[in-house]
Amino acid sequence: MPSLTSPFRGLVSPRIASVQIPSAALAPSAEARAHSDALVERIRAAIDAGGGWIGFDTFMHMALYTPGLGYYSGGAVKFGVGGDFVTAPGLTPLFGRCVAQQIGEVIAHRPDADVIELGPGTGVLAADVLHELDALHALPGRYCMLDVSGELRARQQATLVQRVPHLLDRVEWLDVLPDAIDGVVVANEVLDALPVQLVHWTADGVFERGVACTGAAGPFRFEDRPIVDRRLEQAAASRGVVLDGGDYIGEIGLQAEALVASIGERLERGLLLLVDYGFGRREFFHPQRRHGTLMCHWRHHAHADPFHLPGLQDITAHVDFTGIAEAGVDVGLRLAGYTTQASFLVACGLLDRLMDMADTRLGYARATAPAQKLVSPAEMGELFKVMALTRGIDAPLVGFTLGDLTRTL
Ligand SMILES: C[S@@+](CC[C@H](N)C(=O)[O-])C[C@H]1O[C@@H](n2cnc3c(N)ncnc32)[C@H](O)[C@@H]1O
Repeated sequence: MPSLTSPFRGLVSPRIASVQIPSAALAPSAEARAHSDALVERIRAAIDAGGGWIGFDTFMHMALYTPGLGYYSGGAVKFGVGGDFVTAPGLTPLFGRCVAQQIGEVIAHRPDADVIELGPGTGVLAADVLHELDALHALPGRYCMLDVSGELRARQQATLVQRVPHLLDRVEWLDVLPDAIDGVVVANEVLDALPVQLVHWTADGVFERGVACTGAAGPFRFEDRPIVDRRLEQAAASRGVVLDGGDYIGEIGLQAEALVASIGERLERGLLLLVDYGFGRREFFHPQRRHGTLMCHWRHHAHADPFHLPGLQDITAHVDFTGIAEAGVDVGLRLAGYTTQASFLVACGLLDRLMDMADTRLGYARATAPAQKLVSPAEMGELFKVMALTRGIDAPLVGFTLGDLTRTL
């Protein structure tokens, strides 16, 4: 059976475990396979060093971020038609223009406020946001880009040189988060790319599901061990998983929560704006989602085998937005909004921006199709959520005026 064709990250869920890996027609080149083999050797060495086992978070971290070899740090094309998936900024400038309305509302008339974009991908969102903020007369003092992988910087620079050359002097690339942040931190589809731990709830107990090797040179396989990490144990106990006659496997995203806490501690005044696919905890750990949400992308095919071609494919998990909200609130942020991507974009004026782009009938038709993908419940509109965490901002935020899902957290 072929894998599901899915251009968007996150969109094939939750029954993906029954979907097989991509067919032989999608076989990698010899060079790509050698690249993956080199990473496999590194991961095997880590498993050896770990006494025959590593947590899934360590595996995912190595598969995505090993310098020079991981998916996000090893030169794969990743984004767009020639890559593995498409994200909202790559679909249409409407996404960035709407996000800019929300950013502009927070930083307008505050020339000292910065924007920090985490995981800026190809730089398209930065270009669209800067372009719109310029039009709104709400440019930030600096627009900073920060990614754990510096590999995409050249691509981001090329995008900005082409799209907003007159605003380049405001753009900076950071290696670490600043100690103090005043302004807006924005991250689109970043939390889902952070390594997760896997937990296996069974009638005989709760285990951490990690990765082992079959023989010294054999394939990777899952192996369960008793949980020794106290934070993971507490998190697993708090997820409210109900065994309904079978086992349950789910992801716990402590690294995503730690990132939000770390940003929150630094945010002296401003907004943390997060866009990603996921749900509140009750829906995330719903009894019917018993295989979890782990998903892999390889040349626009989605499947559920994280051991397929390490380093060449994307690995991702949905976001538990309850955990994200708690992480922010615990460090003193205010949960200022949580809604669907569709509600957020419409509240930020998607329809008006669409009309602006549609100066001709053909222009309207071209602009409408990707806009539809952003808001349709069958595509990105409802699975993708937007969360706002703030400090020092009490006024309502424009993007959250049409819908409120905080009750689902
Ligand atoms: C799926 S891509 C999304 C890229 C882009 N935001 C978009 O929407 O097209 C996730 C990006 O997040 C980056 N990333 C992962 N962990 C990060 C972290 N802790 N800080 C900053 N960037 C991170 C990855 O390296 C990758 O470039």
